[in-house]
Amino acid sequence: MTEEMSPIDKAKFVAAKRAADFVEDGMRVGLGTGSTAAWLVRCLGEQVRDHGLRIRGVPTSTRTAELARAVGIEVITLDEAKWLDLTIDGADEFDGDLNLIKGGGGALLQEKIVATASDQMIVIADIGKEVEHLGAFPLPIEVIPFGLQTTQALVEETLISMDVLGRDSTLRMNGDQAFVTDEGNHILDLHLKRIGNPRQLALVLNQMPGVVENGLFVDICDKVVIGFGDGRVEVRDINEGTVAQDRIDFPEADNLFSDLAD
Ligand code: A5P
Repeated sequence: MTEEMSPIDKAKFVAAKRAADFVEDGMRVGLGTGSTAAWLVRCLGEQVRDHGLRIRGVPTSTRTAELARAVGIEVITLDEAKWLDLTIDGADEFDGDLNLIKGGGGALLQEKIVATASDQMIVIADIGKEVEHLGAFPLPIEVIPFGLQTTQALVEETLISMDVLGRDSTLRMNGDQAFVTDEGNHILDLHLKRIGNPRQLALVLNQMPGVVENGLFVDICDKVVIGFGDGRVEVRDINEGTVAQDRIDFPEADNLFSDLAD
């Protein structure tokens, strides 16, 4: 399996593998969504099966719930957990303050609820996700189906007065149908190019009646584990102000993740 992995997949894998070290016995863990988070779920499943790690996981999407169960992680709801020790998730972009854009996989609403209900959030990402300014990746916002076009027009109009470089938006599609989130809503992707003030934009977007949530994560992430294609990992802790380097060896013959579909 590892011979066939691209450098980006290797980077995602080593970030996830390193982040799994932060999960301790007995923890209630928020499980993110996306290809990087899927590596993490696999790594944790291995720890559960082979090393007796006891954790309870709160998934952030139907996809992640299915994968977590398949690899042997006990899955509970957020209301059953009430509060989480740690959430580990991917991101589409992160900046130097560990502000994030998330939602490329359409799960931003559950992801933000889960991350906010956690003592700590760790983001796992390949180095390509680091940016000086957020916004090259289109910002996803979750909107309710009722009055969708009116909400979209209002969002675009509101963006005129925001510190952004673009204000076009597109309705995310799944084939010829609008993409539907786990909560039955739709996603608008905002093509902003550069977001000058993520905190202000996040607050303004969430004031709009048809907008359920936006994909800006401001002051939520505590650590980022960055993976490189050659096996290096870097752990940056925004609270401690520390940076630590490490290296993860790829397993020689590893078919553990061969059925990974995400
Ligand atoms: C899911 O909605 C997203 O927030 C993902 O966490 C993000 O898109 C990163 O995905 P990858 O790990 O697949 O790049």
